Amino acid sequence: MKKIAVLTSGGDSPGMNAAIRAVVRKAIYHDIEVYGVYQGYLGLINDNIEKLELGSVGDMIQRGGTFLYSARCPEFKEKEVRAKAIENLEKRGIEGLVVIGGDGSYRGAQRLSEEAKNLQTIGVPGTIDNDINGTDFTIGFDTALNTIIESVDKIRDTASSHERTFIIEVMGRDAGDLALWSGLAAGAETILIPEVKADIEEIAEKIQQGMDRGKKHSIIVCAEGVMSGNQCGEELKKFINIDTRVSCLGHIQRGGTPSGMDRVLASRLGGYAVELLMQGDSAKAVGIQQNKLTCTHFDEIFQAEHSIDNKMYELAHQLSI
Ligand code: F6P
Repeated sequence: MKKIAVLTSGGDSPGMNAAIRAVVRKAIYHDIEVYGVYQGYLGLINDNIEKLELGSVGDMIQRGGTFLYSARCPEFKEKEVRAKAIENLEKRGIEGLVVIGGDGSYRGAQRLSEEAKNLQTIGVPGTIDNDINGTDFTIGFDTALNTIIESVDKIRDTASSHERTFIIEVMGRDAGDLALWSGLAAGAETILIPEVKADIEEIAEKIQQGMDRGKKHSIIVCAEGVMSGNQCGEELKKFINIDTRVSCLGHIQRGGTPSGMDRVLASRLGGYAVELLMQGDSAKAVGIQQNKLTCTHFDEIFQAEHSIDNKMYELAHQLSI
């Protein structure tokens, strides 16, 4: 393997820069040339590709976002569009591609490895949602989790001062990990996640019982995959007459300097992706399971259903009485 490329795709996440840095430095260490593809798959189609050097990733490990930019690229589902991308890689003699992103991005990588004559692809899980099979954690999840916890702690101060119920809407797309982990860590009274059917009447009863016991405020963490915070407020009003406020944390969850955990994870996964390319692997994604680096075929990743830790959900429920 003499030349590889790296791109970031889908929603950005804190730690993507640290992952790119690891790919670039590990490859150069092994005398492999590295090319950066700007704007994800869009840059692959538009030939927005540049050679990266050691210095290209200097002063980068601590930065949020991705200096290669990211984009969603629905047109990459078209075979003719992918042919253009393959042409742009082949004309440079690029034999390996590292795709940092979510499982939508992995699908593009899988297609490329099938359709190009001589291209290995490896996925690196980069998303705040923690919704990718084959890894316990995705790059960016820990930072986003800490951002949410910090916000909920602040909201709790004002909830307590005004004796209000706050509904905090968090990201996660169809997965409840961000809501579950942040709800547990911030001591939320109620956690709504897509993996467990919500009973709004029961939640209203719980709030009422708490108020009857003299509880002054309540925090509900609602995953966006269940419903919006505003919808949740409307639903609650059908069963209980309380003063509620809604706070949608939005894209603040995607920004910020990556946590120590995310920097280490990104560095380990980025380095391992290059190792896999060097040993001839393709159409696989790297991950971390029980603190060990692992790799899983894209096919296997797509087949499995995302799940949450039910014991953890039960515990959060038990601790919030
Ligand atoms: O996948 C990351 C994520 O932030 C999700 O949590 C969220 O649903 C989505 O991206 C938002 O996407 P966009 O930034 O394109 O609005």
